[in-house]
Amino acid sequence: MLYPARPVNPQHDIDSVQSEALAAIAAADDLAALEEARVRHTGRKSTLTSILAGIGTLPPQERGPVGKRANEARKAVEAALAGRQEELEARELGAKLAGETVDVTLPGDPHTAGALHIVTQLWEEIEEIFIGMGWQIADGPHVEDDFHNFTALNIPEGHPARAETDTFFIAGHPNAVLRTHTSPVQVRVMETQEPPIYVVCPGAVYRNEDIDATHGAMFHQLEGLAVDEGLSLGHLKGMLQHFVRELLGPTFEIRLRPDYFPFTEPSVEVDVLWTDRHGRQQWLELLGAGIVDPNVFEFCGIDPERWTGFAWGMGLERVAMLRHGVGDLRLLFDSDLRFLEQFR
Ligand code: PHE
Repeated sequence: MLYPARPVNPQHDIDSVQSEALAAIAAADDLAALEEARVRHTGRKSTLTSILAGIGTLPPQERGPVGKRANEARKAVEAALAGRQEELEARELGAKLAGETVDVTLPGDPHTAGALHIVTQLWEEIEEIFIGMGWQIADGPHVEDDFHNFTALNIPEGHPARAETDTFFIAGHPNAVLRTHTSPVQVRVMETQEPPIYVVCPGAVYRNEDIDATHGAMFHQLEGLAVDEGLSLGHLKGMLQHFVRELLGPTFEIRLRPDYFPFTEPSVEVDVLWTDRHGRQQWLELLGAGIVDPNVFEFCGIDPERWTGFAWGMGLERVAMLRHGVGDLRLLFDSDLRFLEQFR
């Protein structure tokens, strides 16, 4: 149905077409309504489109003015559409942004920085000191066999040291124990590596003890073993002096006292001169050590005629407690954040 078929005054018709379209555009309250108005007033089936398409069929003298007027109307309607579209888009974006507003002045969820446990801190510090001296770090199974935990360390069946160690046995496995020290790791290293050996063995150990302020059924040891030619007690003392000064401070003194361990001969207890918070000094037991017993070398397949060695072992909890003035071992395992957060 083209324009000339309609019995209307084109001039007047275009005016009303334009004003109807502009009114519909202004009334469109969202982009969907605007699209509807666009289709209705400028689409293929719109009056405006048929007016424009019908210009060629008008009497020649009308073509100019009607065509001009129709094009003006088209431009006005298109401009109104674009303007309204911009307005509605801005309004929708504004609403979306308002809906997504974050109030940055609200207090957030506090994220407290975690920290390593004081035993882990000490463990890592000591590893660093020995790595700095060129030593290796080794670990082994926590469920050990009797040979590695006892026999190879010169503690044969029936030896009083077995009875004195409060060992956890594994029900139904007469040969299996929870390792009572990390020395079996040193045995495993000697079984598999050729000397010279310089190895540190940190890790959890287990003893069937009544738990109190200074005893736990699980704690952490850090032991070490050196196997080389011509090692003496002097090398052991010199190395430990260096270690203690690296760990605690350059002025710390150590002393060696005779002691007994089945796997070392001679054996010593190493004390450190400790100054407490009140300035009082006393010698405190730090670790056990000694020259590796030749029997241990034989059990581990190392020639005791050629090789010598020294070994030492310390409890990490004890040192961590001394260092931080902690009076009860159980605090280290209670997972009480009020305690742990003090060491962040
Ligand atoms: N293995 C000993 C213990 O558990 C510690 C130690 C190691 C002592 C090496 C001397 C030499 O008590």
